[in-house]
Amino acid sequence: MAGSEIREAVRSKYGEAAKKVADGGRPGCCGVGQQCCDPVSGNLYDAAEKSILPAEAVTASLGCGNPTALAKLQPGEIVLDLGSGGGIDVLLSARRVAPNGKAYGLDMTDEMLALARENQRKAGVENVEFLKGEIENIPLPENSVDVVISNCVINLSADKDRVLREAFRVLRPGGRFAVSDVVVRGPVPADIRRSVELWVGCVAGAMEEAEYRAKLSAAGFAEIEIEPTRVYTIDDARQFLTAEGIDVEAVAPQVEGKFASAFIRARKPAGAVKG
Ligand SMILES: C[S@@+](CC[C@H](N)C(=O)[O-])C[C@H]1O[C@@H](n2cnc3c(N)ncnc32)[C@H](O)[C@@H]1O
Repeated sequence: MAGSEIREAVRSKYGEAAKKVADGGRPGCCGVGQQCCDPVSGNLYDAAEKSILPAEAVTASLGCGNPTALAKLQPGEIVLDLGSGGGIDVLLSARRVAPNGKAYGLDMTDEMLALARENQRKAGVENVEFLKGEIENIPLPENSVDVVISNCVINLSADKDRVLREAFRVLRPGGRFAVSDVVVRGPVPADIRRSVELWVGCVAGAMEEAEYRAKLSAAGFAEIEIEPTRVYTIDDARQFLTAEGIDVEAVAPQVEGKFASAFIRARKPAGAVKG
């Protein structure tokens, strides 16, 4: 698929997911009509976090981690969430950076933006702004953000180098990249990798850990760390892979432990002057 086709497939998938949540349903996450989100998107937020959020913001959660809990956000900081979906991480960030900080959410899907803005209204949080746009072309000036967060979105992009360059550009010198994303750990045969990626929901493909590091470094980032937060087992993906006609027992050794959600940290060096 070309980059533009991937983008339209992603937009259509998440537009449908947002409409389902707005109509009182649950989003289908992977495959056609499958409900296999739980091993990936279930139980990411604790009860205290969920209690301060509108139910629809929690239901629309389609991430694979909890970047706001790991990003060490401070009052007064400016946060940008790449691919903010129904707004869960933006609303949580806004509380952490209040009273003088602000949280931006960036998303390209109109239905998700509408859902996020409605969730903001219900939450009664004011230091939030949802922007329409693509993470490959962030509509903010250079050096304007303290922390870039994202939750399971960069793997959807067909141009990950550009996303990372854009994140670097908008961060202030010394600013933090604090992202949850799916990573592949070591070599996996291409066909199996594609099936598992479709199960996780990675439309354009997840990066290997070494590839992620190399791309972050090429974008200018330093202090790069990748910490697995949830490693998937063959049982997590069993139903989906079986429906795909894959002999699960045969591929188990190549899948077990090879796919993980990870927390990815990096910093724009304090001395960096260029966006
Ligand atoms: C897997 S969902 C994650 C949503 C949210 N981060 C969460 O944790 O619930 C992906 C979101 O990213 C958005 N998205 C995907 N690719 C994008 C892109 N290239 N530019 C902007 N938004 C994008 C989709 O519209 C969708 O809302």
